[in-house]
Amino acid sequence: MDERMVSGELQQEDSSIELSLRPETLSQYIGQAKTKENLSIFIEAAKMRDEPLDHVLLYGPPGLGKTTLASIIANEMGVQFRTTSGPAIEKAGDLAAILSSLEPGDVLFIDEIHRLPRSVEEVLYPAMEDFCLDIVLGQGSSARSVRLDLPPFTLVGATTRAGLLSAPLRDRFGVLCRLDYYETEDLRNIVSRTADIFHIGIEKDASTEIAGRSRGTPRIANRLLKRVRDIAQVSGETTISMKTTKKALGMLQVDARGLDHIDHKFLEGIIDKFKGGPVGLDTISATIGEEPQTIEDVYEPFLLQIGFIQRTPRGRVVTPLAYKHFNREVPRID
Ligand SMILES: Nc1ncnc2c1ncn2[C@@H]1O[C@H](COP(=O)(O)OP(=O)(O)OP(=O)(O)O)[C@@H](O)[C@H]1O
Ligand SMILES: [Mg+2]
Repeated sequence: MDERMVSGELQQEDSSIELSLRPETLSQYIGQAKTKENLSIFIEAAKMRDEPLDHVLLYGPPGLGKTTLASIIANEMGVQFRTTSGPAIEKAGDLAAILSSLEPGDVLFIDEIHRLPRSVEEVLYPAMEDFCLDIVLGQGSSARSVRLDLPPFTLVGATTRAGLLSAPLRDRFGVLCRLDYYETEDLRNIVSRTADIFHIGIEKDASTEIAGRSRGTPRIANRLLKRVRDIAQVSGETTISMKTTKKALGMLQVDARGLDHIDHKFLEGIIDKFKGGPVGLDTISATIGEEPQTIEDVYEPFLLQIGFIQRTPRGRVVTPLAYKHFNREVPRID
């Protein structure tokens, strides 16, 4: 299922191109106007005071540009960008080693920060608050604690699951930025920027078409464009046309709203077998043969976001919007 064309998660085929597509400055970073405006003020102010930027937490669904923004912050501050991730740091000592190797002002990026083990998290508190490390030397009755000073630094944490972050950790971030799904117009600009980098032209309505099928997510937009480009090149186009775009996206089975066969199976399953609901999660799970957790975490968020389903106390309901999308008649309630 990881290989869904319309999944926001990083896939093998993305990694090879993403590095070359990453914007490097705030002005190249498209959309997310509020977040950009806030960050640019904080960055400006920190630079004027000649201090590191306050710690920043970036959160939001996969593929919206958290890692990209973190590296832009380091770039705009003119400092080194050091990266690690929650699952990569197993022991308190691993984090202590990373922290003590930082240089003044560095940005330390911790991806998937909600997955830091609790014992490691505790090392972060004094490091974030007072730029120091509390280290215990020796064992048993001869154990003593020493404080080591750290250079001032900026921690940038990223997470897709802000709700899983412990309160003491969350409270130590001075700047919280939630990334939202992108507007079609912003995605269209991302698509045409990427086409430029690929050295290929694209008709305006073709870039709008790809944007509209990208589920509000830059990573998906770039992935779809890459596939469409391949087909355009095979057909000898130097400018990607609307006709080829529609044909390619049809072949990829991504419909006009960015839904694929899995979304179709899910929605039409509820429509056909349960008259559109309400139907309980466990019942759906048994019917379509997927784990309830997968349905909640992977299938439903986008469908809820675009208003194709609703969660009610009595279960899931498919909305009239979804019926319309499938050209089906909304059942009468009697
Ligand atoms: N605002 C933007 N403007 C232009 N391109 C963007 C923007 N945001 C993201 N991208 C593109 O989308 C790709 C994915 O972004 P990124 O890796 O930063 O997402 P992420 O939120 O860190 O995802 P994950 O949750 O999987 O870590 C980037 O390589 C970049 O090319
Ligand atoms: Mg990332």
